[in-house]
Amino acid sequence: MDLAARDCRTPRILSPMSVIASNIISRSLPFAFSFRCLSTNVVQRINEQRHQAVSGGGEKKVASQHKKGKLTARERLQLLLDHNSFREHDMFVVHNCTDFGMDSPSNKIPGDGVVTGQGKINGRNVFVFSQDFTVFGGSLSHAHARKICKVMDQAMLVGVPLIGLNDSGGARIQEGIESLAGYAEIFQRNVLASGVIPQLSVLMGPCAGGAVYSPAITDFTFMVKDTSHVFVTGPEVVKTVTKEAVTMEELGGARTHTVISGVAHEAFDNDVVALSKIREFFDFLPLNNRESAPIRVNDDNWDRQIPSLNNVVPEDSTKPYNMLDIVNAVVDEGNFYEIMAAYAKNIIVGFGRMNGRTVGVIANQPLVAAGCLDINASVKGARFVRFCDAFNIPILTFVDVPGFLPGTNQEHGGIIRHGAKLLFAYAESTVPKITIITRKAYGGAYIVMASKHFRGDVNYAWPTAEVAVMGAKGAVAIVCRGDPDLAAREVEYVEKFSNPFSAAQRGYVDDIILPSTTRKRVCEDLDTLATKRQSNPWKKHANIPL
Ligand code: HXC
Repeated sequence: MDLAARDCRTPRILSPMSVIASNIISRSLPFAFSFRCLSTNVVQRINEQRHQAVSGGGEKKVASQHKKGKLTARERLQLLLDHNSFREHDMFVVHNCTDFGMDSPSNKIPGDGVVTGQGKINGRNVFVFSQDFTVFGGSLSHAHARKICKVMDQAMLVGVPLIGLNDSGGARIQEGIESLAGYAEIFQRNVLASGVIPQLSVLMGPCAGGAVYSPAITDFTFMVKDTSHVFVTGPEVVKTVTKEAVTMEELGGARTHTVISGVAHEAFDNDVVALSKIREFFDFLPLNNRESAPIRVNDDNWDRQIPSLNNVVPEDSTKPYNMLDIVNAVVDEGNFYEIMAAYAKNIIVGFGRMNGRTVGVIANQPLVAAGCLDINASVKGARFVRFCDAFNIPILTFVDVPGFLPGTNQEHGGIIRHGAKLLFAYAESTVPKITIITRKAYGGAYIVMASKHFRGDVNYAWPTAEVAVMGAKGAVAIVCRGDPDLAAREVEYVEKFSNPFSAAQRGYVDDIILPSTTRKRVCEDLDTLATKRQSNPWKKHANIPL
């Protein structure tokens, strides 16, 4: 397999085995010296140390890594970055631990279990670190942490994203507090970089203990199925403390975190697919909070009419339909990158492009829980809105929401506090906001979902829109209690409120548009809004209800 032949714009999906077969060591060329003043001894030492660094934990450990279906730290970087773009930093760094026999020369492997540096993804700069499980299980020594901190500092200085490929047994046990200090220094940098440069974590092996908190702070966390496991305490500790018997996979596997906990945003089948998808994902993002996302020229006409949208919403307003059909039809080339697709499916979030510009799409999904907002959907939506707002990505919201999900489960779980997160995120955002009400926009959920009242720039309703305090049945049950002809009152309510007119008459939607014209209208609006400047009152920081 010739990785060099890879086209840097359209990464091919390679089979893991073909990548494993490639001779990674041959890529690290020996130092070619022509300086007569250097003794051959120095040259030899440099070459030896480079070779040692590139060999990691040695052939046996590399074979064991491959046997688990995992690539090595360097193989991963080769797939993540454009061909020949990687420039490694700190290859000669070694730890300074002397306990538990760590001072023996055989325990000092140059690089100390993490490969760091800079490279390009489709021509744009990125800083990276990739933990090498073949060296002390990728565990984090203080030297290892300092290498990571160094690329984080450089990424911040020049305003370039950071991607971490995590594969580590956690704190280097032999180093004790030194490795804890190392984690703390990473976390501090993660926090300061938050909202300044995009930070992505790809979990490609174990990630345990406090180590989980760096990925948790970063903007997006990805996992690889079967080989990555993330937990604060492992199965053995769980058993001791709570008496629960649980496997690594159940406790912290990719399914657990993408479906149940929401800790991870997406899970991929293997390392190769993961790295290829990260390249695709990266292209949606700006380099930092002062830049716009790159514009990708494409052949999809910005003013394309979409006749199928005129019939997508069923006549019976209690019938579900798939909101993804609308999103996919509207964005450029049907290319919508959905994030957290398996978690809180009643809300859809992800990136698409409109006339080449990245947009963040948030949409209620009537197929799941009728599109109600619940705790998980609110938190999922809020975090996404905040990412878009921090990084100048316009927000396109599709609304079909009957309200917040009722019930003790939700109330006791704190739907008030969590729903407020989504409300807060939309209300504080200053990026261009375009909203399309496709059907229901009821009650508090109407307000929250990028309504005009939350500084929505352009708010449209489709003819099928129903902007009201609540659904007709619930409404008449309250205000017409005791009325002998509730059915007639319901019809009356529907005629009066289950339509877009009362909102349009008050200017709470700017226009009622034919669904087929949605793409054209949004592209025009984004053009106008490209120069939008809006700011909030000065403050140290807001106090979002956490
Ligand atoms: C030093 C470590 C290590 C660690 C693994 N190794 N974890 N060395 N410090 N934390 C070494 C092993 O000794 C072994 O070396 C090699 O890496 C591979 O490990 P294996 O156990 O053989 O691999 P595997 O069977 O795949 O199991 C992987 C593992 C397991 C699940 C990660 O190694 C493990 O449970 N490690 C400890 C995890 C842990 O408790 N970490 C500390 C968490 S607390 P040899 O030479 O034998 O090949 C923490 C605090 C941070 O991180 C707090 C921050 C705030």
